[in-house]
Amino acid sequence: MISCSQLTRNFAPSAGSVLGISQVSFQADRGEFVVLHGASGSGKSTLLLILGGMLQPDSGTLSLDGFNPYTLTRPDAAQFRARTVGFVFQLFHLIPYLDVQLNILAGLPAGSPNATSRADDLIKQLGLLDRQNDYPATLSAGERQRVALARALLKSPKVILADEPTGNLDPSNASIVLDHLDAYRKRGGTVLLATHGSDADRYADRILRLDAGVLVSATSRPPHPTSPR
Ligand SMILES: Nc1ncnc2c1ncn2[C@@H]1O[C@H](COP(=O)(O)OP(=O)(O)OP(=O)(O)O)[C@@H](O)[C@H]1O
Ligand SMILES: [Mg+2]
Repeated sequence: MISCSQLTRNFAPSAGSVLGISQVSFQADRGEFVVLHGASGSGKSTLLLILGGMLQPDSGTLSLDGFNPYTLTRPDAAQFRARTVGFVFQLFHLIPYLDVQLNILAGLPAGSPNATSRADDLIKQLGLLDRQNDYPATLSAGERQRVALARALLKSPKVILADEPTGNLDPSNASIVLDHLDAYRKRGGTVLLATHGSDADRYADRILRLDAGVLVSATSRPPHPTSPR
């Protein structure tokens, strides 16, 4: 589902120091839950943005569901991204002047079949029923993160790229978010989740680690009781 080779993006080529990512290669299959660890500044968000078709690498190759978004025309790339990738951003990126329900629906093109009823299902499943007509500024961090997740799940993407989706959440909200990502993966979705913490490790098929932009380790976990496969 995701296959990348030698991805490099350097934000400071003239300074000599590597900022960004360097020569990153890995694959993630359909139905796989991959956790990406690394200290602040190690390149996690950079890698996720590149994989999501939002930040062009300086070099390297990417195949996402069989396509390299950077070889498509801009409109084709936008359409491909909208269809294939659900992105849960580190800072939520909700639209401040839309309420919860409309923020979730913003994940789909207008007029998509059954969008409202599917959004309503997600609102119930994610415990947002009481807040569906409220605006992002009035929500807690946990509620905002659940809205961002619902928006990503609504379009049933092939891949969800989640950047620190539990970073601001208490353990119970973190579990809600991770359980939903796990359920999505069991339906055949691919999850790549970047985090500082260890909450998501128990869901991971594989754990990757970035250190100063370089992928330094990739470990596989055996199947575990909370997430049978
Ligand atoms: N647009 C940019 N312009 C210049 N430098 C950037 C840019 N984006 C990221 N960087 C630098 O690249 C490095 C990697 O940043 P990145 O945001 O990918 O780290 P991260 O692992 O996601 O960190 P965090 O855990 O704090 O979110 C950092 O040193 C950062 O300052
Ligand atoms: Mg980051």
